[in-house]
Amino acid sequence: MNAYRTVPYLPGEALLALYRHRGAVVDAGVGRHGFVYLLGAEANKFVFANADAFSWRETFESLIPVDGPTALIVSDGEDHRRRRSVVAPGLRHRQVQDYVHTMVSTIDAVIDTWRPGQRLDLYQEFRSAVRRSTAESLFGPRLAAHSDFLGEQLQPLLDLTHRPPQLMRLQRGLNSAGWRRAMAARHRIDDLVDTVIADARAQPGPDDHMLTMLIDTLSDNEIRDEIVSLITAGYETTSGALAWAAHALLTLPGAWETAAREVDRVLGGNPPTASDIGSLTYLNGIVQETLRLYSPGVISARRVMRDLVFDGHRIRSGRLLIFSAYVTHRLPEIWLAPKEFRPRRWDPAAPDYRKPAPHEFIPFSGGLHRCVGAVMATTEMTVMLARLVARTTLRLPAQRIRAANFAALSPKPGLTVEIAGSVPAQ
Ligand code: HEM
Repeated sequence: MNAYRTVPYLPGEALLALYRHRGAVVDAGVGRHGFVYLLGAEANKFVFANADAFSWRETFESLIPVDGPTALIVSDGEDHRRRRSVVAPGLRHRQVQDYVHTMVSTIDAVIDTWRPGQRLDLYQEFRSAVRRSTAESLFGPRLAAHSDFLGEQLQPLLDLTHRPPQLMRLQRGLNSAGWRRAMAARHRIDDLVDTVIADARAQPGPDDHMLTMLIDTLSDNEIRDEIVSLITAGYETTSGALAWAAHALLTLPGAWETAAREVDRVLGGNPPTASDIGSLTYLNGIVQETLRLYSPGVISARRVMRDLVFDGHRIRSGRLLIFSAYVTHRLPEIWLAPKEFRPRRWDPAAPDYRKPAPHEFIPFSGGLHRCVGAVMATTEMTVMLARLVARTTLRLPAQRIRAANFAALSPKPGLTVEIAGSVPAQ
């Protein structure tokens, strides 16, 4: 029997109740300040098919202070197509395979510092590992050397985005202390990234990876925005998901042992290489099930730029449309026992296996702006979890954990674990 039920995210549960009681379309508020909730799988299909009706710049305006005005997530039309065509090749499956050794060495270096009996916040450990490994994999050691500085400077900016956009507008209008701190941090990040770009131009290195592609094609402002936004988009989401995956491994009866046995059988004590990852069926199931039940993006939004009709309802231009992975991933008409964490449901050899359609499983959204880092994220999760179960034994002390932050769902106040044992890397 599956005894593990997930930590509920209360606003997500409220949306689920809304869908059950009011159906797929729920109008809330009036005019430009109103929302329209479009909930369920058919609504997702409709949203992904009508990309030309939305503006990402208008929707995610509040991310501009963090990500910059030319980041992919706030780009529309031809600018988006051009910028994405430069970034996407460096995140394709074949390229991500080249990053596996960096992912392994980064998580190994973190595990090397752990000592038996120590208690630590595993979520924070994952945050710093993922930040460093993303910086190094995509932009080389020059930027990775400053990964901790980058994390410190990004924090006040990320804190801004964790609050409602109206609050951010107010802070900007008042030029509040929090706003000034965030802007000063963004300037320091820009200075660092400008130096890295100038160095890479003067002396291109073999490990510059995507940096070389960006330098060859984009303007300096664009390069800076793509670097900062790829790191921010990648590390909060992936490290939150990693923390929930570890929580599941430690809480679902037998899960840690099953994953450790599989890793030992497939890898025989060695770190994973790119070609091993597909064979880690159970661990891949843990990753997929985490992305289903702890989707980092609980909801997403689209600003509607022309009138639309869905399911007989008119959605007027100017309104904000909200759709939800949280709701979609918990619908009993799509998922058997939707609230249960069942890694085996993702195993193609399992009798109840069912491959979800793209609009039924949407942790990475869909359509034109689908997450460009999806392969990198799932690969990184599998690699880091494989090293965790192979090299450590962890205990989960009693603690109260809340799920927080609808843009990068994470455990609050963190995920405290105790190191029961750890073996050296081979
Ligand atoms: C588990 C980890 C991740 C999750 C769940 C996730 C989820 C998402 C989602 C839902 C979107 C679309 C937002 C929307 O349509 O409203 C998105 C966009 C994006 N993601 Fe991710 N992401 C993850 C990791 C990453 C990583 C590792 C990177 C890069 C290294 C990345 C880079 C981006 C970028 C650049 C966009 C904007 C794409 C565009 O607008 O064309 N993400 N992500």
